Amino acid sequence: EHAENWKRSDAYFNSFLLKEDPILDATLQNSRNQGLDNIAVSAAQGKLLHLLAKSMQAKRIVEVGLLGGYSTIWLARALPDDGKLITFEIDSHSVKVAGENLNNAGLADKVEIVLGPAAEELPKLKADEPFDLIFIDADKPSNPIYFKEAKRLVRKGGVIIVDNVVRRGKVADPQYQDDPNLQGVRDLVHLIKDDPEVEATTIATVGEKGYDGFLYAVRQ
Ligand code: DHB
Ligand code: MG
Repeated sequence: EHAENWKRSDAYFNSFLLKEDPILDATLQNSRNQGLDNIAVSAAQGKLLHLLAKSMQAKRIVEVGLLGGYSTIWLARALPDDGKLITFEIDSHSVKVAGENLNNAGLADKVEIVLGPAAEELPKLKADEPFDLIFIDADKPSNPIYFKEAKRLVRKGGVIIVDNVVRRGKVADPQYQDDPNLQGVRDLVHLIKDDPEVEATTIATVGEKGYDGFLYAVRQ
């Protein structure tokens, strides 16, 4: 797999395409210091999310899975002054750490954090003011539930992105049968196959976080 090779590859492109970013560096440092898992999106992926949100002039974003707020910062920075991002997180320690990181990034007023299981909290969110973009990056077994809620909340023409759908190819490998994380992705794509209300594709990625990918869906 040559992890060093892909790390160098990300570093190479980032050195041209990404600016130095003390706030994002501090976010990762603070998250690491306080024991959060190092499973945030990569910088290159974070910037992709940022640019997608910008391209569609997103004003309202939902995120499922806050962790330390790294992708949250990339996404919220794409919002206009009156924009809003609502993010869901089950772990109170993550909420504390992310709160610090979002304050440090000057984004606390644009980001609303909901503490609790997203499968219970998302249904409480009203769809009368729909969302432009929804990023799902939480526990993988619940992907089908989160996607169903995301469909309810996103506007027509809006976008739903799901992280970690490739998993080093394991999702598509029938030798891995009993992993509920992999099954959560498989169940999701089965669901989408029969759903005339979304069009979707995957964007497989490789870089400092190894081989993985996003699912990109547009609400019809
Ligand atoms: C895991 C979860 C993630 O959201 C991710 O981006 C990478 C790994 C995990 O649970 O292992
Ligand atoms: Mg992820």
